[in-house]
Amino acid sequence: MPMYIELVKYPDVFLRTKSNPVEFPLDEKTQRLIKWMYKAMYQHHGIGLAAIQVGYQKRMFVMDCTRSQTNEKVFINPEIVEKSEETLRDNEGCLSAPGKSGDVRRHIRIILKYQDENGKEERKTFYNLEARCIQHEMDHLDGKLCIDYEKGNYSRDKHKSQTMVESDFRTKSDS
Ligand code: NI
Repeated sequence: MPMYIELVKYPDVFLRTKSNPVEFPLDEKTQRLIKWMYKAMYQHHGIGLAAIQVGYQKRMFVMDCTRSQTNEKVFINPEIVEKSEETLRDNEGCLSAPGKSGDVRRHIRIILKYQDENGKEERKTFYNLEARCIQHEMDHLDGKLCIDYEKGNYSRDKHKSQTMVESDFRTKSDS
């Protein structure tokens, strides 16, 4: 049996924190963390996973939208440099918020700038599901969750009310 990888889950306040840029060359621990993230993503049958979901505030995420378990890629210090005007609203779930979902409006095409494991800068266009997945993971890097959205749009009020649930959880779980 493979080792079970526990994910950080809502309402843990850690998910609301902002992640920090990753420095190059990657240290050994970060290299191991990337492999751990691939494992976690596949074990939980996800198509994307951010470092914060396994407990690290690093600006990186992994993705494999093919579900083939052979197409895994890591995106380090990602930045969306261009997005289509055209958007699409769709229901999204998150491995860190089991049983919950949000209706989220996302750009259907984006151009992403990021670094690979070797620090090499890449610039690539992504469409549809991959573009949606990337925007979802990028939200994680800034402490946002898909359950913060309402009728497609990011809602500060909903975020706040969710955060109140979190602090209640924190109070009770600390005592
Ligand atoms: Ni997520």
